[in-house]
Amino acid sequence: MPDTTVTGGAATDFERIAGRVLTRRGLLEGGAAFGAAAFVPGATARVAAGGGRLAFNAVPANTLDTVTLPDGYRWRVLIRWGDPLWSDGPEFDRETCGDGASQERAFGDNNDGMALFTDGRRTLLAVNHEYTNLEIIHRNRETGRPETADDMRKGKAAHGVSIVEIEEGDGGWAVVKDSPFNRRIAVDTPMEIAGPARGHDLLGTEADPAGATSLGTWSNCGGGRTPWGAYLTCEENFDGYFSSSDPAYEPGPEMRRYGVGTRDWGYGWAAADERFDFSRHPNECNRVGYVVEIDPFDPASTPRKHTALGRLKHENAEAVVAADGRAVVYMGDDERGEYLYRFVSAGRYRAGGDNSGLLEDGALHVAKFNDDMSGEWIELSPETTGMASRAEICVHTRMAASAVGATTMDRPEWVAANPARAEVCCCLTNNKNRGVKPNAGGDDTPVNGPNPRERNPYGQIVRWRPAGGDHAAAEFAWDLFVVAGNPAVHDDAYAGSANIDAGNMFNGPDGLAFDEDGLLWIRTDGKYTDAGDFAGMGNNQMLVGDPATGEIKRFMVGPNGCEVAGVAWSPDRRTLFVGIQHPGEDGVESHWPDGGGSVPRSSVIAIARDDGGTIG
Ligand code: FEO
Ligand code: CA
Ligand code: CA
Ligand code: CA
Repeated sequence: MPDTTVTGGAATDFERIAGRVLTRRGLLEGGAAFGAAAFVPGATARVAAGGGRLAFNAVPANTLDTVTLPDGYRWRVLIRWGDPLWSDGPEFDRETCGDGASQERAFGDNNDGMALFTDGRRTLLAVNHEYTNLEIIHRNRETGRPETADDMRKGKAAHGVSIVEIEEGDGGWAVVKDSPFNRRIAVDTPMEIAGPARGHDLLGTEADPAGATSLGTWSNCGGGRTPWGAYLTCEENFDGYFSSSDPAYEPGPEMRRYGVGTRDWGYGWAAADERFDFSRHPNECNRVGYVVEIDPFDPASTPRKHTALGRLKHENAEAVVAADGRAVVYMGDDERGEYLYRFVSAGRYRAGGDNSGLLEDGALHVAKFNDDMSGEWIELSPETTGMASRAEICVHTRMAASAVGATTMDRPEWVAANPARAEVCCCLTNNKNRGVKPNAGGDDTPVNGPNPRERNPYGQIVRWRPAGGDHAAAEFAWDLFVVAGNPAVHDDAYAGSANIDAGNMFNGPDGLAFDEDGLLWIRTDGKYTDAGDFAGMGNNQMLVGDPATGEIKRFMVGPNGCEVAGVAWSPDRRTLFVGIQHPGEDGVESHWPDGGGSVPRSSVIAIARDDGGTIG
């Protein structure tokens, strides 16, 4: 059942702000600058679904335990959780789901963000493995929980990142087993700590008093791709892995702001690896929560944790090059009432040059959205925050953002930048606390311009245009590309914006990417009860939006209990790789993709057109 209750009382506020948005839209750049998607609450003035650039038949919502695509498109599985990347790894055991040794040689669980890299000869897919569903991965244990040291090893190995070489043959794209580029990066892989916080006292531990190296990456959510061909993997819900053996140990406000509490989320890693016991090693949790840069074409390279990009529950990292050559990275912090960030490098990108240090030094900003549809990036510096050093700001970034009065957001998930024009979008997935309670730092979360609904159960996509088309500019103008809702159930603000109707409604926008033509591919991680507030929305799905017209069409529906996660296009754009994460989570019945009563397995699928045409 939905865990949010929609109350009509917020509609007044919403209409007030929406009305202002509309009015200001008319004043801004002739009203057409952001496209035709008028932001009107309620069931009136809806945009009719036309042909436009979305040249496929919309897929109806459904609750089928499979992948559904438009006519003329087909899918097949590229790789599943537990598939070995090397021939010395055993095939996946559907009964036990493997052990520590087999998982270390295999594709991890719960694939999320991903990116594709090519040097013209080889094609590599870098894929995040965000977390595990304990009752699935440990289904061979009566408790459905890790019970032995090897269970912990297996769990750790199921996290992190896979680098997988793929190649296209007669039967389509396939994994190249034993490729010298295949690599697993997980919870015990050595990492460098880079940027302003490297060497700071907050990062020093018993194992690494210098605070310069750490072990592993986990809770890898969204990803990114730098202009210089590096993969960025983003550490999100890192707190759920720490616990305290000393029940009297009181986490301080900094730990509490990031959710670190006495108990972990059932992973049990502290029992096998003491560094996850924060009462004994309190600084260990300061060594995670970063964007990590990986060179996919150098399997021997050491991943680098970029403290300059802040310590958050990072969703993804969307990297672009500003007009003057500086690298700009947009980043969301996915927690109720947290913030949206931007990093601007000090150095400039040089095509073909050595850009490996660009993310180590620069300015970190946080977004402030004004209700008049203007916005600004506020720099987080010792002067603006009152904090002692840039290093401290890079570790306690949420505190820094609170200090400058940034805008609390409805859980910023993926950010995507349009390659066709200077335009950026961010999914604000939902926020049951909007207008109800403050964030974990005590910042009020009143209904505001880009977050216009109390107890927001559906989410929205905010869009901004940097001033002068310059991603490094201090100011921007914003609007809402879409406000998700259910017009079949509501006739107020909770029905959504004008470009939502009963045929394309969805909830929980999460993954987001522009294709080369500037179409927006929206993936959902929402409620799939198909009942109550979510009636008629079906399983999680992928939709395509046209930012020029506001039109949105459903392209794909995923299997039961899944989230539709990362996407990546083949170099010729004839194949679209899509991540299907956690089918069958929380006891939802799913046997996807293997069927026949088998255990559900997160997988990457490859979508192609029957006529061999390009996608997107
Ligand atoms: Fe890992 Fe916010 O999704
Ligand atoms: Ca997500
Ligand atoms: Ca999500
Ligand atoms: Ca998920």
